[in-house]
Amino acid sequence: MRLISINSLQPGMRLGKKIYNEDGVILLSENAELTEVIIQRLRSHGLNFVYVADSRTDDVVLTEMIEDETRRRALNEIRTQFRKMTGPAVKGLVYPYLGKTFSGLVESIMDDLSSREDAMIMMMNINSIDHYLYRHSLNVCIYTILLGQVHGYSKNELTLLGLGALLHDIGKTKLPLELLTKPDRLTDAEYEQVKKHAEIGFKMLKDEPGIPLISAHCAYQHHERLNGSGYPRGIKGDEISEFARWIAITDSYDAMTTHRVYRQAMLPHQALEVLYTGCGSLYEKSKLEVFRDRVAIYPLGVTVKLSTGEKGVVVKIDGIFPQRPVVRILTDPLGADLKAPYDLDLSRHLSIVITEVDGMNGIG
Ligand SMILES: [Fe+2]
Repeated sequence: MRLISINSLQPGMRLGKKIYNEDGVILLSENAELTEVIIQRLRSHGLNFVYVADSRTDDVVLTEMIEDETRRRALNEIRTQFRKMTGPAVKGLVYPYLGKTFSGLVESIMDDLSSREDAMIMMMNINSIDHYLYRHSLNVCIYTILLGQVHGYSKNELTLLGLGALLHDIGKTKLPLELLTKPDRLTDAEYEQVKKHAEIGFKMLKDEPGIPLISAHCAYQHHERLNGSGYPRGIKGDEISEFARWIAITDSYDAMTTHRVYRQAMLPHQALEVLYTGCGSLYEKSKLEVFRDRVAIYPLGVTVKLSTGEKGVVVKIDGIFPQRPVVRILTDPLGADLKAPYDLDLSRHLSIVITEVDGMNGIG
């Protein structure tokens, strides 16, 4: 199968992987034939990349970061709990179920991730149509736990970190929906209102008996930046909790690799470049390096162009050289389709580099 941008979809293509709707129900099954109407519908739901079947790359095995079942269960739980909290803040209202429910969820994610030693951060915003806040909360949780495991935190620390990551944007449940789903760029006044979610989230969590204070601080501090340019308080360096400094990276990355109505999603390598422009000033260098080594910058199935001029599809990524995947070469340097595609392992051909990635610049 191949990963292609929604703009390159053509009627008649067949899906390479099933697509779930917002309630975790299968919307389109594997191999479903795409029509103009279906393509429009996927676009209106905000999907930006889709796996399609391709006989030349049918053997590509997709490895997800966590089990499908864990993901479905997690999204259900997040949806149910977050919906209960949606609406204006009520003084004195507590959410005693939060800590217990979500600690269990964080542990399931930890179990899935620790059973895969070579787990990589993969673009997760594919083939599932979810409310942005729910999906984003789950993705940030998964990415952050993976980084925390690589860093070597204990199980207890990982649970606290995972809870903080899962609930970092919980304050957004108290903002008006039209503000969160506004299709255009926000005005300055609206942006100021959105920024309040950090403090609102902290207030919601800090007195919850099941939520440790260190996790509540992730909600408060995930938009703070090393040089003091963040919000809400503009605190700097070590004043920002270590957990919040991890979440600053995973939160920014997931936001950039997700399609919003007002801007296209970036591909992982582009988002990584943007993060690196803030290396040492916005984000901590050592943490960014852990992230860089664990992010699959070329998603499986993506079309790439090589410095030789040949084009192909990424068919394998390993944990040792994630930046140098195995590419199935499909065309010669002049663009003619090869009769016999073959696999080129870039980790063994260090002089060849990937020069373009399909999706943003229209190759493929
Ligand atoms: Fe946030």
